[in-house]
Amino acid sequence: MPLTGKRILVGLSGGIAAYKSAELVRRLKERHAEVRVVMTESAKSFITPLTLQAVSGEPVSDALLDPAAEAGMGHIELAKWADLVLIAPASANTLARLAAGLADDLLTTLCLATPASLAVAPAMNQQMYRHPATQDNLATLARRQTLVWGPAQGAQACGDVGPGRMLEPMALVGLVEQHFAPKAQPLAGIKLMLTAGPTREALDPVRFISNHSSGKMGFALAQAAAELGAEVTLVSGPVSLATPAGVQRLDVESAAQMHAAVMAGIDRQQIFIACAAVADYAPKTVASHKIKKTAADTMVIELTKNPDIVANVAALPNKPFTVGFAAETRDVEKYARDKLDRKKLDMIAANNVAMAGQGFNSDDNALTVFWPTGQTELPLAGKTELARHLLTLIAEKYHDTH
Ligand code: C5P
Repeated sequence: MPLTGKRILVGLSGGIAAYKSAELVRRLKERHAEVRVVMTESAKSFITPLTLQAVSGEPVSDALLDPAAEAGMGHIELAKWADLVLIAPASANTLARLAAGLADDLLTTLCLATPASLAVAPAMNQQMYRHPATQDNLATLARRQTLVWGPAQGAQACGDVGPGRMLEPMALVGLVEQHFAPKAQPLAGIKLMLTAGPTREALDPVRFISNHSSGKMGFALAQAAAELGAEVTLVSGPVSLATPAGVQRLDVESAAQMHAAVMAGIDRQQIFIACAAVADYAPKTVASHKIKKTAADTMVIELTKNPDIVANVAALPNKPFTVGFAAETRDVEKYARDKLDRKKLDMIAANNVAMAGQGFNSDDNALTVFWPTGQTELPLAGKTELARHLLTLIAEKYHDTH
């Protein structure tokens, strides 16, 4: 039983889906999890604490400063007790309170006080779910590593049809089991370096040449590599992204700096992934003062070629397993295979940036991956999921050749 002895704090906020939470608690208990239930005031309008006490076999907590409850298991103790906090249903209001970091009742206080993972199962009217405020709150929570499970699509209690239904209890149980399942770590003990984001090539103290790369794919890859057990060094151009847990990050600006940072640490690496959108050229000279506008209608800026970081890495005598990226707008296979050969890479991941909704600055992406003796498609998915698939493939090919 994968849930034996796992301590799960189930939080209920106000929503009609709360009637299903009794079933959720029952199914978790059946799998030998230890379950405690916390309810918000509005949850109690939908289902009684007595029902949840009966199915969990434990007293239900609902008040922050209740002397009787604090004498039993106090709120900090309860926060420390949990291995996972699962809020199901998570109402729009509770998601907003979590995103804002409020601690205005027992449930939100526990969420701030717990070192455990937090999962939310949103449940609300489809219009409320689609509202930009709710979407922003969910994005904020996801950025803080909150697990967002669902919602499902379909008919709603209010008569609407659309996204906002809480996932069914058994689907949530499946996700809880997956969360606790031991993760395969095919990159355990492997040192992996990757580059991510754009580079900035200075023209003068206030101007630069750059590109639209957000760094999202590279950061997702760094996170996935760390989750698969690798010791990750992330060399990043200027981006506004949080460093994934367990990843060592080196910040650089220009291609020359990125090249230097990579070369300084590459001899210790077994895998190198070049995901950065490195500027191919940099201004030949950087003006020491701001360049002034002149009477002329045109201005010529002379550029010089930047070092090709991934090609330089692949040319090293003791080269790591080297993976490049190719962002193409046409003839993806032809250009990707050509780049694989020319740069002497072990693998290349190609995406068609001309396709809407994928590639640069988007949250979703699809890749075609080529290696000297084969190729495979990784279909359109969120960058986190796609990164896991690509890293799993890299681990497989790395182990085939080492
Ligand atoms: O040649 P192109 O820029 O299309 O190749 C893209 C691949 O090469 C990417 O993996 C990118 O990170 C890498 N690259 C590099 N250094 C450069 C240019 C590209 O590492 N100067």
